[in-house]
Amino acid sequence: MRPRHLLAVRDLTAEQIGRLFREAARWKRKPLQDRPLEGKMLGLLFQKPSVRTRVSFEVGMTHLGGGSLYIGPLELQNGKREEAKDVARVLSRYLDGIVARTFSHREVEELARSASIPVINGLSDRAHPCQALSDLFTIEERIGRLKGVRVAYVGDGNNVCNSLIEACALLGVHLSVAAPAGYEPDRDLVRWAKRQASASGGRLLITRDPKEAARGAAVLYTDVWTSMGQEQERSRRRRAFRRFQVNMGLMKEAGKGALFMHCLPAHRGEEVTDEVMDSRHSIVYDQAENRLHLQKGILVTLLSSSRKRGSKK
Ligand code: CP
Ligand code: NVA
Repeated sequence: MRPRHLLAVRDLTAEQIGRLFREAARWKRKPLQDRPLEGKMLGLLFQKPSVRTRVSFEVGMTHLGGGSLYIGPLELQNGKREEAKDVARVLSRYLDGIVARTFSHREVEELARSASIPVINGLSDRAHPCQALSDLFTIEERIGRLKGVRVAYVGDGNNVCNSLIEACALLGVHLSVAAPAGYEPDRDLVRWAKRQASASGGRLLITRDPKEAARGAAVLYTDVWTSMGQEQERSRRRRAFRRFQVNMGLMKEAGKGALFMHCLPAHRGEEVTDEVMDSRHSIVYDQAENRLHLQKGILVTLLSSSRKRGSKK
């Protein structure tokens, strides 16, 4: 069974993720091996800015023999010009797939409910599945396995953190999350992940102590303290997260050869220092590169058998 949409990592089983990783590795070895999406068009519906997600999906689609087009905030007007369900129904008549970057997760769900073509979440307020899947692919590539690997996420319990929690729980990774009070990851999601982790052999720890999370970790991961759309909270967040910076002191708490990861864009000097970003620990650009290979796997999986449903004439 292949999923119809990808809105969250938990839409996939561990087995499907494994297949996706093998597919991604194949595309990474030979980027132009085949053109399975010849004649297919992908729409990028973006309400927020993007470098990696937009470029990696557009390049990926071209490599696979298809095309893509960007539909930005001007056309979308943040849902004010027309409702998401009408946009989804209309675009389903032209396109073969949609990548949506929305403010509200409910909107990406609405697009998926109304579209007759696959919808991929390219980041919402709740989840960033393409990022987390690429990240675990990167960890496996570097360390050679995932089960039992210790990952620490230090910072905001945001969209990137939520998706990382889902992916680690499904794949048996030991994840520790350190977030300040009031900025913890979604409570229901944590409950789900703890149950899931006990089945997969993983572990999930939520703490307020960055050192406790980092101690002995093979990977230290962070993301911005102020996500897109939260700019007016920036000074409050800078105060709340002061103790949660990934610097060389915190890297030392982790294992000797520990890796540093960040989904990017980074706010250097806030959640991470220049010294860590530019150090031998940092694999942030490999992570960014792997978005391309992993998403080619997602595109082939979701789009190659999808058929546009037109009017019933
Ligand atoms: N990591 C990520 O999704 O980057 P962009 O916001 O630039 O797409
Ligand atoms: N948490 C960040 C991730 C950007 C890729 C944001 O939502 O802005």
